[in-house]
Amino acid sequence: MPALLEPVQLGQLNLRNRTVLAPMTRVSAEPEGNANELMRDYYQAFAEGGFGLLITEGTYTDTAYSQGYFNQPGLATEIQRDSWVPVVEAVHTAGAAFIAQLMHGGAQTQGNIHHARHVAPSAVQPGGTQLSFYGGEGPYATPAEMTEKEIQEAIAGFVQSARHARDAGFDGVELHGANGYLLHEFISSEFNQRTDRWGGDYRARLALPLAVIQAVREAVGADFLVGMRLSQGMVTASRLKWEGGVEEARTRFAMLAEAGLDYLHITEYDVGAPAFEEGPTLTAIAKASVSIPVIGNGSVTTGEQAQKLLDDGELDLVAVGKAALANHDWPLRVRDGDAMTEFDFDMFSPMATLTNELAWRGVNDRPATRRR
Ligand SMILES: Cc1cc2nc3c(=O)[nH]c(=O)nc-3n(C[C@H](O)[C@H](O)[C@H](O)COP(=O)(O)O)c2cc1C
Repeated sequence: MPALLEPVQLGQLNLRNRTVLAPMTRVSAEPEGNANELMRDYYQAFAEGGFGLLITEGTYTDTAYSQGYFNQPGLATEIQRDSWVPVVEAVHTAGAAFIAQLMHGGAQTQGNIHHARHVAPSAVQPGGTQLSFYGGEGPYATPAEMTEKEIQEAIAGFVQSARHARDAGFDGVELHGANGYLLHEFISSEFNQRTDRWGGDYRARLALPLAVIQAVREAVGADFLVGMRLSQGMVTASRLKWEGGVEEARTRFAMLAEAGLDYLHITEYDVGAPAFEEGPTLTAIAKASVSIPVIGNGSVTTGEQAQKLLDDGELDLVAVGKAALANHDWPLRVRDGDAMTEFDFDMFSPMATLTNELAWRGVNDRPATRRR
């Protein structure tokens, strides 16, 4: 039986256990996209708290249209790359592996210091309103349909930022194909209405994610981890379901994995619930479709829950989001059977910044780790 807190291999990486910090945007980088000391201390705390693998918040990939949020960190420039070096060193020193999530904001872009224009597969406006906890306000802009040149530039951005991640010392990159951002939009029939080689039926709509995987793999070589995160829901439509059910999901997972991935990271609102009306979970469908490891995420708060998912063969590693924000030492608490602090959305008020979290902790006497 795979044990949550026992070592596991992910690609060439030897992880000390199967716990993963889920990627979480904190809009706390310097205005020009550089990582800073606050971020170093933040990520270091999760590594000291026992996680086997940390995945960064979504980092933007180019100085064109990829930035989604003001104060989002990037890996687009050499200066941004260098700003991550102390963060990576702190995480490695504390014993965790570290993967950079590479994100292009696409139609869900709210703030970009490089360009006022937004681009996406097609000129489709996302529903709902921008996220206020990332500093947004009002409806989303209607993006411009990407030209062929802009698509090639976006691919080049993923490649360059993956190289930068490798050179900064990260153990791998995770391509953000989830939550409604650019790569997810290309997969979606609603957001991708293109009639050229980047659109079409559900297989044809994988063209851009496949091109990005292949180009990144070619650039970083076989020794550097390349994973992809996928979801059904989008930031702007959280309960959305993929059309085409289990069969299309299987084909999608298999095609993406075969393009050169080391792992799939599946996020659902509840990772243990059926993917569609009934039947298997999305991670179980993924595991039945590919031979690479599957990380699962969504509504896991306790060690028992995580271990049961492993025991049931639902997934290979468990990524924890909000419960980890409430307990930066979530794995150590699981190990020692200690009580967990409940997550509270107030820590993101009025914005999801690290300084607001620190202020909230001080005022409410809610430390991020156990007192010793
Ligand atoms: C503040 C916040 C920021 C997030 N930012 C990202 C992100 O940058 N990239 C990403 O893939 N998911 C992001 N997510 C989604 C989480 O990774 C995770 O999928 C979600 O919180 C559900 O998992 P949980 O139930 O364990 O919290 C974010 C979630 C939160 C709460």
